[in-house]
Amino acid sequence: MNCRIRDETPGDEARIHQVVEAACREAPHADPTEPSIVAALRRSGALAVSLVAEVDGAMVGHVAVSPVSVPGGAYWYGLGPLAVLPTHRRQGIGARLVDAALADLAAIGASGCVVLGDPDYYGRFGFETVEGLVLAGAAPAYFQALSLGDAFPQAEVVYHQAFSATT
Ligand SMILES: CC(C)(COP(=O)(O)OP(=O)(O)OC[C@H]1O[C@@H](n2cnc3c(N)ncnc32)[C@H](O)[C@@H]1OP(=O)(O)O)[C@@H](O)C(=O)NCCC(=O)NCCS
Repeated sequence: MNCRIRDETPGDEARIHQVVEAACREAPHADPTEPSIVAALRRSGALAVSLVAEVDGAMVGHVAVSPVSVPGGAYWYGLGPLAVLPTHRRQGIGARLVDAALADLAAIGASGCVVLGDPDYYGRFGFETVEGLVLAGAAPAYFQALSLGDAFPQAEVVYHQAFSATT
């Protein structure tokens, strides 16, 4: 498989929307508004990292990363949505996207990254639940963090307002 991870470039927007929509359509825990969230993050200039995965030149996956607010925690980011087309799953493409996104965050000096998702999946990248670092409304086991420095803030994390987008 010839898989390439690259930054989003102008002109990718519509295909990213399709890929995220198709990935989320049948996902039991995914939010149907996730394509709108990516678009709203872009409109707000809050897509700190936006990577696409291509197989043989066709886009099959995407990951978004945006800044989050966390008192006492400068330069923290949230990973997601993460999407891989159903036809291309279990080939390590999701892992390549997450690894590349975390490498980009390290390169820009991020303090750390949080994620809301399945702990079995994200645990393999080093994400862990952190006592005292919470997201309102989220089951604690599903909200995880990865420090890129040496500390975890003890506070409530607030995602960018684009996560309220529905259109
Ligand atoms: C989650 C997702 C991005 C994984 O993409 P992928 O390219 O298949 O991921 P990888 O190939 O790197 O990893 C696949 C492995 O993760 C496991 N896995 C996939 N989704 C999982 C989940 N929700 N919980 C636990 N394990 C999961 C698979 O069983 C597989 O395990 P294996 O390697 O032992 O066979 C993809 O399933 C997807 O787009 N899902 C719908 C959208 C979604 O739920 N996104 C996450 C929340 S925003």
